[in-house]
Amino acid sequence: MVAPKFSTKPKICYRPIRPSDLETLEHIHAKLFPIRYEPSFFHDVVNGCDIVSWGVVDSNRPDGRCDELIGFVTARVVVAKESEIVDLLGYDSSKSDQTLVYILTLGVVDAYRNLGIGTILYLTSILDFCTYNC
Ligand SMILES: CC(C)(COP(=O)(O)OP(=O)(O)OC[C@H]1O[C@@H](n2cnc3c(N)ncnc32)[C@H](O)[C@@H]1OP(=O)(O)O)[C@@H](O)C(=O)NCCC(=O)NCCS
Repeated sequence: MVAPKFSTKPKICYRPIRPSDLETLEHIHAKLFPIRYEPSFFHDVVNGCDIVSWGVVDSNRPDGRCDELIGFVTARVVVAKESEIVDLLGYDSSKSDQTLVYILTLGVVDAYRNLGIGTILYLTSILDFCTYNC
């Protein structure tokens, strides 16, 4: 018999990332990604400096850490013609005034994977972008 993943049903909530998330955010990034991010990156994320971000918490965690991040997305909005990213996309950036949403990091801790959280985070960042730029 497969052991249940959670002793209580997770209640997944999405919220903006705040300065109080700094330590957890750094910790999860260090666990999930092979590259090290500069402290300035985390500072910019938690303070919303040029970076759009969303966090996820499980407000029904049995250990009481109901406001601790278990996932996140960080993204930057860039003007297409000022970015080298468009070269990868293969269209003429010099003629484009379009803006793009560039996902910097997207992560969900192991225990909460395959519940659709990553997909929602991805879609949330796109929706956020469209709300202000479309
Ligand atoms: C990628 C990640 C955010 C997905 O989170 P999640 O909450 O499990 O995502 P969802 O439940 O919405 O979707 C799971 C699907 O994504 C797929 N998936 C997971 N990691 C993937 C990857 N690196 N590349 C492509 N697909 C991936 C799974 O196979 C699954 O596919 P299925 O629905 O067809 O079975 C999570 O696996 C993660 O944090 N990975 C480590 C960090 C990382 O690689 N981030 C992406 C680059 S920044």
